[in-house]
Amino acid sequence: MRKTILFLLIITISCISMQSQTSNPNHAWFEEARFGLFVHFGPYSVLGDGEWVMQNRPIKVQEYKKLQKFFNPQDFDAKTWVKTAKDAGMKYITFTSRHHDGFSNWDTKQSEWNIMNTPHFGRDIVKELADECHKEGIKLVLYYSLIDWSRNDYQYWTGGTGQGCGRTEKGDWNSYINFMKAQLTELLTNYGEIAGIWFDGDWDQHPKDSHTHATSNVNWHYQEIYDLIHSIQPNCMVSNNHHKEPIQGEDYQAFERDLPGENKNGFSDGQTISQHLPMETCETMNQTWGYNITDTNFKSTTEIIHYLVRAAGHGANLLLNVGPMPNGEIQPESVQRLQEVGNWTNKFGQTIYGTKSGLIKPQSWGAATQKGKTHYIHLFEQEGNQLTINIPNKIKSARWLNLDSPLNWTVDKKTGNVTFDLLDTPFDDIDSIIEIIVQ
Ligand code: GLC
Repeated sequence: MRKTILFLLIITISCISMQSQTSNPNHAWFEEARFGLFVHFGPYSVLGDGEWVMQNRPIKVQEYKKLQKFFNPQDFDAKTWVKTAKDAGMKYITFTSRHHDGFSNWDTKQSEWNIMNTPHFGRDIVKELADECHKEGIKLVLYYSLIDWSRNDYQYWTGGTGQGCGRTEKGDWNSYINFMKAQLTELLTNYGEIAGIWFDGDWDQHPKDSHTHATSNVNWHYQEIYDLIHSIQPNCMVSNNHHKEPIQGEDYQAFERDLPGENKNGFSDGQTISQHLPMETCETMNQTWGYNITDTNFKSTTEIIHYLVRAAGHGANLLLNVGPMPNGEIQPESVQRLQEVGNWTNKFGQTIYGTKSGLIKPQSWGAATQKGKTHYIHLFEQEGNQLTINIPNKIKSARWLNLDSPLNWTVDKKTGNVTFDLLDTPFDDIDSIIEIIVQ
C-alpha cells in the first residue's frame, strides 16, 4: 500500500538471533524450498463441507462409506496439480494420503476403504502424483492421519473426536499401530522417494488440550514408527502436527496456522521453537482445508505473499493449502492466486529460497531474510521516511531490488546503525525490497 503522507519516523531495529538450521545435508532441500503446496482431498470433498464433515454432522461410518461409491474425481490430473504448484514457485507438495475419515488415497492392501475400490475412478492418486512429482523435481510429502473415525481399533473411546460415528465395538490398539506401520511401509516402499511423512491428530488424545475432550494419553509408538520410516527411507523427513515441541526422530517442526512463536489461532499454546530443526507453518487459502462449497473467504494474493515472506523472515517454510473440488480440479479462486503468487516468486523468489531469518524480526509491515552476504529487507508498506538498522558488517552496496534503483544510506559512526532514506521511493503495492550486500 502506498502512503502519500510521510511521517518522520525512524525505525531502529537491532539484530535478532538467527535460527540455527539443520545440519543434515539430506534435509537441505527443505530449507531451500520455503514454499510448498498442501492438498486436502478425499471422499469428504464430495460433500463440500470441509474434511471434518464426518465428525461435525456427525455421519455414521456405514453411511459415510457410501461415499466410496460416488467419489469420482474424474478430472484429477497429477500433471495439472504439479504444474500449478511449480508455477507458483512451490518446491514440494504435501498430500493427504489418508485423513481422519480413514480413507486411503492409494492402493493399500491393509483396508478396503480405499481409492481403488471407487467403482467409477479406481486410480491410485498417490502413485500418479508421486510419478509426476519425481518427473518434475517436486518433492512429495505424505500427510498421514493418526486418527481414524472409521476403524474400531482406533482408540476413539478415549479420544476427543469421532464418538458420533456410530462405532460400538472396541478394537485392539496394537492392531491399529500395526495397521499404521503396514500402511506406512507400503507408502515408503511402492512409490519411490517420499520426502516426508506429516503426521496429524496426536492432539485427539491430549486430555489437557482445550480443543479436545480426550480422557487419556495413548501410546502412539512413535519411536518404533519413526525408526521404521527412517529404516525404509533414511532421508524421509518426519514431522508431526502435535502442537508440541518436536521429539526425537522428528526432522522438522510443524506450526498450524501460526508463524513460529506466534499463537494467534490457539494451536501453538506452549509450543516453543525447537531451535535446532527446520520449521514449517501451514495455512489455508480460504478458511477450510478440505473443499467447502460455501467458503469463499479467500485471502488475497498480497496477503499470501506477505505471509510467505514473514514465514521466511522467521526462517520457516509456508505450506499453503488447496482443497480440490470433488471432480479433482483445484478451485479456480485458488489457481488464480497461485498464478499471481507465481508471478511474484518468479521475480523475487531469490529473496526467500535458501534464505534464513534476517536482520529484523518479522513485523506486520515487513520482514527480513538473508543469504550469505546478501540481506533482503521487505517493506510491505511505508512506515516512515527512514529505516534504521543495525548491520554487523560494512555495506558494499544497497539498492531497491524491485525497482533496480539505487538507495541512499548513512552510517552513524558511534552506533554503527545504518539509516536508509525512503523519502523519494515509489512504494510497491505488494513488497518493496531493499537488497543489501555486505563485506
Ligand atoms: C488440523 C485439522 C486437519 C487438517 C490439519 C492441517 O489438524 O484437524 O483437518 O488436516 O489441521 O494442518
